[in-house]
Amino acid sequence: MSDGYVWFEGIPFPVVDCTPEHLRAIREDFVFKDQDVLTVSFPKSGTNWLIEILCLIYSKGDPAWVQSVPIWERSPWVENTHGHEILKHQEGPRLITSHVPCHLFPKSVFKSKAKMIYLIRNPRDVLVSGYFFWIISKLAKRPESLEQYFEWFLQGHVAFGSWFDHVRGWMSMRGKENFLIVSYEELIQDTRSTVQKICRFLGKKLEPEELNSLLKNSSFQVMRENNMSNYTLLRGWLLEERGSLMRTGISGDWKNHFTVAQAEVFDKIFQEKMAGLPRELFPWE
Ligand code: A3P
Repeated sequence: MSDGYVWFEGIPFPVVDCTPEHLRAIREDFVFKDQDVLTVSFPKSGTNWLIEILCLIYSKGDPAWVQSVPIWERSPWVENTHGHEILKHQEGPRLITSHVPCHLFPKSVFKSKAKMIYLIRNPRDVLVSGYFFWIISKLAKRPESLEQYFEWFLQGHVAFGSWFDHVRGWMSMRGKENFLIVSYEELIQDTRSTVQKICRFLGKKLEPEELNSLLKNSSFQVMRENNMSNYTLLRGWLLEERGSLMRTGISGDWKNHFTVAQAEVFDKIFQEKMAGLPRELFPWE
């Protein structure tokens, strides 16, 4: 550990449950199975919301599982030693989560038929959500101000590195039939249709009442009260006493936090770094 991060191949990672040795080992040795379903995202993109939705798809809308097992055990993070331990012993189709950049990811996934869902969110909201999360968490370097975190984010000096590189890396997978891109914004705008799109990709069909139960149990209000999903189990250990994963649950909150100058700088860098990628990948732009 150094300076509030664990470093691997020039990328900063969180300091808890993650080591360079582990990252190196899973990259070479972790075996993805064709039936696995992988959620990949840059942190604070709505990852846990998507996990909740996937769990409820697999339980056919029955909330018993999401109400009784911590979210990080239902769809473990492969880069975490604890998550990896669960995955190693799990039989049958697995839900797996990761924030690892594409070029450092376990190699076996690229040869498997495992289904991958890449979740993307307006990076301005990712930045703001990240700032408010890292100041209440003990997982990685704690920023002293939003101004400071803004600089770190643009330099890629935050957990899992540069958002721009992360997105560019994983976007190289687009067009593959086992790779689906979902945005936080489309989930917010029309959750029902987006869940149906995910179900089609997974080859799953939910009855109308199962879908209604899924929508209710993965809503912001219900997840906020669910101790198995809202991270309050980590209070006093990895999170501050009042810490929670569930903050605003909206898109566009960055407008309440960026200065005009920051918004302009961000726009410019976004245009430069994302040049050449199709506009429709970024529905918020
Ligand atoms: P905000 O901080 O902007 O509110 P991740 O799971 O990748 O860490 O992302 C966390 C973000 O997703 C937080 O964003 C959180 O509030 C939001 N989120 C979690 N569950 C949600 C839900 N059911 N509906 C909408 N947003 C949700």
